[in-house]
Amino acid sequence: MVGIDYSRSFVRAAKRLQQSGRHPFRLLEEGKITRPCVARIPSIIQRKRIRFLTGDALHLPKNLGTFDLVLAANLIDRLSDPAKFLTQVLPQFVKPGGLVLLTSPYTWSPDFTVGRHWLRNSFPSIQKLLRPKFRLLHRQDLPFLLREHRRKFQFTFADATVWKRTTSSH
Ligand SMILES: C[S@@+](CC[C@H](N)C(=O)[O-])C[C@H]1O[C@@H](n2cnc3c(N)ncnc32)[C@H](O)[C@@H]1O
Repeated sequence: MVGIDYSRSFVRAAKRLQQSGRHPFRLLEEGKITRPCVARIPSIIQRKRIRFLTGDALHLPKNLGTFDLVLAANLIDRLSDPAKFLTQVLPQFVKPGGLVLLTSPYTWSPDFTVGRHWLRNSFPSIQKLLRPKFRLLHRQDLPFLLREHRRKFQFTFADATVWKRTTSSH
């Protein structure tokens, strides 16, 4: 298994969690008040099975291999060219018959993606881009909660879609 993110600090935290199974951090309560916490990986998880890398999803190393499952979690609306990722990058890394799991709240922003590269009307656009090589198996809302501080949270529904790689390369 390989886990990739652009952020060095995210990858560093993931590696620390992998090595020791725990990661101390400070949780914001309000203003500048924080309290110490520890994130722990449940012992049932086999931490050695994954390799974490810093990398750009639009320029992945060609020798990464091919996979039974590729998960792109809340990624595509952070990319400069999401269509390129879906049509040119993804297919290279998914085995025939393999799966792709995409989740995204489609929070398009010029901070990450110039307007002409936004996937307007996101789901039909994704389906059109993936259709030649992937078939939709499942779609559902995936709620998640982001904590800003003790009294402020952001509740989001990502669109979660599962796609199967067809053997056809057309
Ligand atoms: C909204 S966060 C989602 C984080 C995590 N995947 C999750 O679902 O909780 C978007 C993540 O995409 C990463 N990212 C942004 N551009 C990227 C790129 N070109 N290649 C790889 N990762 C990227 C960011 O560093 C950030 O960790």
